[in-house]
Amino acid sequence: MFKFKKDEEFHLDERLSSIAFIMDGNGRWAKKRGLPRSAGHRKGAETFVKLVKFLGKAGAKYITVYAFSTENWKRPREEVDTLMQIFTEYIDRAIDRIGDNDIRVIFLGDKTPLPERLREKCLEIEKKSEKNTRILNIALNYGGRDEIVRAVNAAHADGIERITEEVISRYLYTRESPDPDLVIRTGGEMRTSNFLMWQSAYSEYYFTDTLWPDLSEREIKKIVSDFYRRNRRYGGL
Ligand code: IPE
Ligand code: IPE
Ligand code: MG
Repeated sequence: MFKFKKDEEFHLDERLSSIAFIMDGNGRWAKKRGLPRSAGHRKGAETFVKLVKFLGKAGAKYITVYAFSTENWKRPREEVDTLMQIFTEYIDRAIDRIGDNDIRVIFLGDKTPLPERLREKCLEIEKKSEKNTRILNIALNYGGRDEIVRAVNAAHADGIERITEEVISRYLYTRESPDPDLVIRTGGEMRTSNFLMWQSAYSEYYFTDTLWPDLSEREIKKIVSDFYRRNRRYGGL
């Protein structure tokens, strides 16, 4: 059985260049502790920073995280405001440090409806990190269906008459990244909630009951070793 033993052995090789997370369960994490949902989102943001660092050290080339869906606007105004506030704070802090590491931040989703300050911070960090080589895609106001419809319309607007799979892939927000090899969803729900619909056609999925703020480096190692044991056939034999 494949298992990582020591820390230095944990490494993502070419079979797992692109890894994605549906970061779910912040609200329930808070509820279990009698805390407001916002406390779950704050803890979730800490977990996100910790795990991105950990995966970076392990050699991850493409990381994609689902931070806010096109459907999450349906939540109470107060919760949406808190989330936008947390995103703004974290991006603002990361802007100063982005020069010290090799992470290129790309936002997946339409920035137009975001609060102005957040929108500016998103553009600033994208610009400041554009020469870096390892990609961190942050899906913010992202929906897989929305993304495909936009891609087709954009291709059409550019005068492309024949839509092919290659054309669509080229017009998606994820055009800079390969399709995810592995999509991990925390929080126990067995659904994709409109995440990377096009890109995950042949992705491996892993669902865990662990709530996002509790996801540990140890569990990621376990999930990755599970992934390495899978046989990806892509319809072949
Ligand atoms: C994920 O956690 C964060 C976002 C969707 C923004 P949730 O807020 O969905 O947490 P649960 O699913 O209610 O526990
Ligand atoms: C999916 O979680 C979106 C993010 C993690 C950002 P949700 O909590 O919105 O998903 P549903 O509503 O349970 O499908
Ligand atoms: Mg949820």
